[in-house]
Formats: sequence, C-alpha cells, structure tokens
Amino acid sequence: MKFFVDTADIVDIRELDEAGLVDGVTTNPSLIAKSGRDFIEVTKEICALVSGPVSAEVTALDAPTMLEEGRKLAALADNVVVKLPLTFEGLKACQGLTADGIKTNVTLCFSANQGLLAAKAGATYISPFIGRLDDLGVDGMELIENLRIIYDNYGFETQILAASIRSADHVQQCALAGADVATVPPSVLKGLVKHKLTDAGLEAFMADWEKTGQSIL
Ligand code: G3P
Repeated sequence: MKFFVDTADIVDIRELDEAGLVDGVTTNPSLIAKSGRDFIEVTKEICALVSGPVSAEVTALDAPTMLEEGRKLAALADNVVVKLPLTFEGLKACQGLTADGIKTNVTLCFSANQGLLAAKAGATYISPFIGRLDDLGVDGMELIENLRIIYDNYGFETQILAASIRSADHVQQCALAGADVATVPPSVLKGLVKHKLTDAGLEAFMADWEKTGQSIL
C-alpha cells in the first residue's frame, strides 16, 4: 500500500519524505486554508519537493470551469493530480480531463455506487472518506472493502485512495482491505512507528550496553 501525506504543510512533508514515507501528497481547500499559504505557490513547492503524485483540488462547481481550473492546475507540474468532487459536474470534468491525459482524484466518496461512477468516468484515484462515515456511526471500512470487490470484479484500474484516516487502526484496516493508497495526516503517519514494547526493549538494550563500557565509534 502506498502512503500519501494528507497535508499542505511543507515542513511535515519534508520530514516524512526524509524517512522515505511519502509516495505522494493530497491537499484540499481546508488543508490549504490551514497552511495559510497561497494555493498555487504551495502546490508548486510541494510538487518540486516530492516526485510522486500531488492532488490539488478545483473549487468550481460547474464542469466547464472545473475543466479550466483543472487544466491550469495540471500545467503547474508533471506530478499534479486534479482533485474533483463526486458530483455529476465533477464526473463530467473527470471524463474531460481524462480525455486530455490528465490524472484525476475524485473526492468526497461516501458510497460504493459513487465509486463505481467515478471509475466509469475514468478517475485515476477514488477517495472514500472513512473517518467521516465512522463519525455517523457507519462502518467506513466497509466502503473500502466493497470498492475493492467492485473494482476487481470489473477490472477497473481506478486506484482506491483511502482518505479521512484518523488512526493507526484505520491504516492497518485499509492495508488488510486492499486499498491501493492511504492518505494519512502527518501526526497519524508518525504515530505508526510507536509501540511501547519497542520503547521498553530499546531502553533495556541501552542500559545493558552502558554496562559493557564499550563504544562502536
Ligand atoms: O483526505 C481527506 C481528509 O483531509 C479529510 O479528513 O479528518 O477532515 O475527515 P477529515
């Protein structure tokens, strides 16, 4: 499973990239607002920093303007993926951008039927939002499982990009369910390395090493 980082924070992206944990980046208007940065500038900066796909979201609600915005975003860098909302207009724009050879990420997916439509429109990625379904008491992971079955049944190449991930357990469940990608907030991604037995084991090793009085260097 690939890891994308769900942020527009350059410092976090750089730090995680240095650990080899960044296969790509996803942003959305809320994350751009949180960064306090100019959308176009920060998108270019992220695209220069990472070699993998970087999702940048359109903000128009009608297909013709989405197409115009999408083409402008795609021209910023070779690794831009245009993010489009899962609406009828978004599907039309997805079809048009796909015909232009531009990669797309259809976002705000909350049902398997929506995911099926996005695949038929040629989406490169589909973004099902797990955490927001869980918030409503619906099992978000079931959507990932159902999309996996549907895409495999019909040989759709659209990649399942699990989004709205809130916990380490979400990440593990996505990997078990066969998501192609998980886009993960930096705090959750950094937290995956943590285990109390790792910390306790390392502490014991260091204490015993100290007793030997040796040094490697
Ligand atoms: O990738 C989508 C993500 O940014 C939304 O996450 O936690 O706001 O539902 P959340």
